[in-house]
Amino acid sequence: MAGDNQKQAAARRALDYVEDGMKLGIGTGSTAEEFVKLLAERVAGGLKIVGVPTSERTAVLATKLNVPLSTLDETPHLDLTIDGADELDAKLCLIKGGGGALLREKIVATASDRMIVIADASKVVTTLGAFALPIEVIPFGAVSTIRRAVDVAKACGCTGEIKRRGDSYGEPFFTDSGNYIFDCAFGKIPDPVSLARELNLIAGVVETGLFINIATFALVGTASGVDIIKPV
Ligand code: A5P
Repeated sequence: MAGDNQKQAAARRALDYVEDGMKLGIGTGSTAEEFVKLLAERVAGGLKIVGVPTSERTAVLATKLNVPLSTLDETPHLDLTIDGADELDAKLCLIKGGGGALLREKIVATASDRMIVIADASKVVTTLGAFALPIEVIPFGAVSTIRRAVDVAKACGCTGEIKRRGDSYGEPFFTDSGNYIFDCAFGKIPDPVSLARELNLIAGVVETGLFINIATFALVGTASGVDIIKPV
């Protein structure tokens, strides 16, 4: 199967884990969008679920397709979150945030009993870091915050260019929560657990795209089917 078909196959398999009456976290990105479309078909066929979207973008699509939505304030405990990833390793540490939704994605995933990652085979890596790690930062003092992030990253064995994300007009990209994202092109992250912990201690860092011990398992579309990856 080619990449887009792999995403769709993983999204379709994720539906096997969705049960009537569930409260579902719904992810962001092209793979999660495949899931929303398939979920909408099941809802049209009578499936009763309520979804909490991880971004405005996902909320718009789900609303358009008549998937019932709630907020995390109305529905603070979720049964299951299904979301994509930019990279995943054998321990099921993830890099997320390529779509800029990492903060809400992490809040929703950790409010859920389980998180299932859906992805195509290109997302599986031996060592995280080829995909630039997104860090969400409060705009106030962002340059100073990122200087500290550079020091922390170095101490964790990571060096590389860190750039503020821009939008397609060259303006700073703002997240749904009004923050900046800095993309850290480290190439390799030898110790994601330490890096996540140390970056989260910096004042001004809201969250990082490192998801550690959050995913329950991953459904990965491959050339020949869908593999289940459980953390080693
Ligand atoms: C959104 O912020 C991200 O975390 C996405 O889940 C991630 O970028 C995967 O996106 P795709 O499914 O489009 O590859």
